[in-house]
Amino acid sequence: MINAKLLQLVINASNDGIVVAEQEGDDNILIYVNQAFETLTGYSAVDILYRDCRFLQAGERDEPALAVIRTAIAQGLPCRQVLRNYRKDGSAFWNELSITPVFNEADQLTYFIGIQKNVSKQVEAEQRVIALEAELALAQAEINLLKSDRRP
Ligand SMILES: Cc1cc2nc3c(=O)[nH]c(=O)nc-3n(C[C@H](O)[C@H](O)[C@H](O)COP(=O)(O)O)c2cc1C
Repeated sequence: MINAKLLQLVINASNDGIVVAEQEGDDNILIYVNQAFETLTGYSAVDILYRDCRFLQAGERDEPALAVIRTAIAQGLPCRQVLRNYRKDGSAFWNELSITPVFNEADQLTYFIGIQKNVSKQVEAEQRVIALEAELALAQAEINLLKSDRRP
C-alpha cells in the first residue's frame, strides 16, 4: 500500500487533469483538483474549488456530449465524452472527459472522479481530414461534370 504523500506525487505527475467532485443539490462541486487541471484550464484551485465544472463550458450548453454526461451522472454510471471547453483566458480546447462514480461500503454514491485529457490536436486533425475529404469530393464532382460536358 502506498502512502498518501506518494499518492499525491503520483496524481500531480499526471499530464491529465484529475478532479474529485461531490454532490451538492443539483451540482457536483469540486473538492480536489490536481496541478495538471490548473495548467490545462488556467484556473487555480482557489478560483474553482466548491464550484461545478460547468464553468468550463462558458455558456456553450447544447453540445451533444453534455446530454450523455448528464444522464450518466444522474444514473451513477461512468462515461467518457469529448466536449469543447474554455480556459480562464477564453481560449477553447477539446476535453476528453472521463467520469467515474465512487461508492461507499453501503453502496451509496459518494464522489465522482473526473479525468480531463486535452485532445485538441487529435480533434483538430480529424476536422482538417473531414474538410479536405469534402473539398476532394467537390473537386471530383466538378471534374466529372467537366468530363460529361465534353462528351460528344
Ligand atoms: C467529476 C466531474 C468532472 C467534470 N468535469 C467536467 C469538465 O472538465 N468539463 C465540463 O464541461 N464538464 C465537466 N463535468 C460536467 C459538469 O459538471 C456537469 O455535470 C454537466 O455540465 C452536466 O450538468 P448540467 O446540465 O447541470 O450543467 C464534470 C462532472 C463531474 C461529476
